[in-house]
Amino acid sequence: MKKALLLTVLAFCFIGCNTDKLETSVDQMLLGAMDNAASNGNHMHYLLPESSDLASIPSPAYNPLTTPKIELGKQLFFETAFSIAPMHDISRQTYSCASCHIPEAGFMPGRIQGIADGGVGFGENGEARGKLDIYDPSELDVQGIRPLSLINVAYVRNTSWNGQFGAGLINTGTEDRWGVDDPGTQFNNLGFEGLESQNIAGIILHRMVFNEEEVTRNGYAEMFDLAFPDYPIGGRYNTQTASFALSAYLRSVLANRAPLQEYLRGDRTALNEQEKEGALLFFGKAGCYRCHSEPNLGAVQFYAMGVNDLSDVGAFHTDENDKKNFGRGAFTGLAEDDYKFKIPQLYNLKDASFFFHGSSKRSIREVVEYFNQGIPENPRVPAAQISPLMAPLDLSEQEMEDLVVFLENALYDDQMNRYVPESVLSGNCFPNNDEVSKADLGCE
Ligand code: HEC
Ligand code: HEC
Repeated sequence: MKKALLLTVLAFCFIGCNTDKLETSVDQMLLGAMDNAASNGNHMHYLLPESSDLASIPSPAYNPLTTPKIELGKQLFFETAFSIAPMHDISRQTYSCASCHIPEAGFMPGRIQGIADGGVGFGENGEARGKLDIYDPSELDVQGIRPLSLINVAYVRNTSWNGQFGAGLINTGTEDRWGVDDPGTQFNNLGFEGLESQNIAGIILHRMVFNEEEVTRNGYAEMFDLAFPDYPIGGRYNTQTASFALSAYLRSVLANRAPLQEYLRGDRTALNEQEKEGALLFFGKAGCYRCHSEPNLGAVQFYAMGVNDLSDVGAFHTDENDKKNFGRGAFTGLAEDDYKFKIPQLYNLKDASFFFHGSSKRSIREVVEYFNQGIPENPRVPAAQISPLMAPLDLSEQEMEDLVVFLENALYDDQMNRYVPESVLSGNCFPNNDEVSKADLGCE
């Protein structure tokens, strides 16, 4: 009897405890490549924390992560009740942060650019949103650049495509530029990191209002009380606390159930052979890791890859000379930073339909082909600005396919709906609440 038990335990251990036995030579090569690629020399650099492991998620001391705060942010991000400062009354309480950052579209808008105030409709995943007839195009809340994904944004400490939000870090020395080009950057003077700073600017830019009256009217007072118990009542229900809650929620939105994450946690079968080949290329020969270097596979560093701008694909509120097209340079005022954009994160791009800051590519395959060819597409970007790493990679057809499969599947967390609330406290339809969207979303 005892002997049988011992044998069973040993058998389980053979399968469960001894991962070396399950590691193939491809695994050893891949883990070695990731060790070499990682800034700390260890493949575990790329492991994302569990969303419940609040102590391991990067966050600033003045906005510590707590469950009530994350829960509040999870509501506010989707809540359409606070959008009460639209250009025309018909759009009151019809849009939210998630109008432009749709979870099912990789936290992006599902179209070339996001439309909040002045937009109408949703379709399946944002693709059918258009302009309300009564709005003049100049009245729309749209930006001349594609919304960024908000997945794994805990690793983005200076936010936006040009990194303009957030005090300190990469923005040390740019203080004289705050509030100059984009009035929203004046909030950097509060001394916060990118998320807190940008989300204050974002609430105002996107025509939302958070104050005691609105918070109470929409039933959120108690959630604010639980989230900010140490704040005096007079300072508890406002744009800043709303931004802090939104920031806390966004930091918890981690694609930590993607196959590559399971693989890193020790399940060497989480990736199939082709995905492993693709990963080997990403962390090796194709050189992607040189730039996409942080745990989110993005980085707060800026490069010109010579891609087309949103003005080239036909969009609202932009033209060739739009400051957004100048990237980091429009913020710093330094010519050497012109046309350089932040390196975006790479998880859950399978849900996206538009790639690069100007939505110039329509599939991951097109992105890989672009980098493989190494020929800039935007004639307005001077050759001297283009990153020397933007050069032909000489990948074979098979290698490109392996890389695409790695990006699409190994970096895909298929359970992101855990970050979406079942309902919002107002009871409104979300992420949009206009009549057409309501029908599209099945709210009525
Ligand atoms: C009208 C569409 C729209 C709405 C609504 C919107 N955003 Fe965005 N968001 C954008 C665009 C566009 C960018 C990129 C801007 C840039 O880089 O210049 C962006 C970028 C961001 C970023 C920076 C991410 C990074 O990696 O740097 C954060 C954070 C963010 N949004 C949060 C929010 C929050 C919170 C709300 C609600 C208060 C919101 N957004 C509402 C369009 C929108
Ligand atoms: C020189 C640094 C650099 C290298 C090397 C690099 N990238 Fe990027 N990558 C960027 C930057 C910067 C952007 C954003 C460009 C823009 O939109 O202006 C980007 C964008 C992307 C995007 C689009 C993401 C989105 O949100 O639209 C994907 C996908 C991507 N890179 C994958 C790769 C792959 C795969 C490789 C290797 C073949 C690679 N990158 C190599 C810097 C780099």
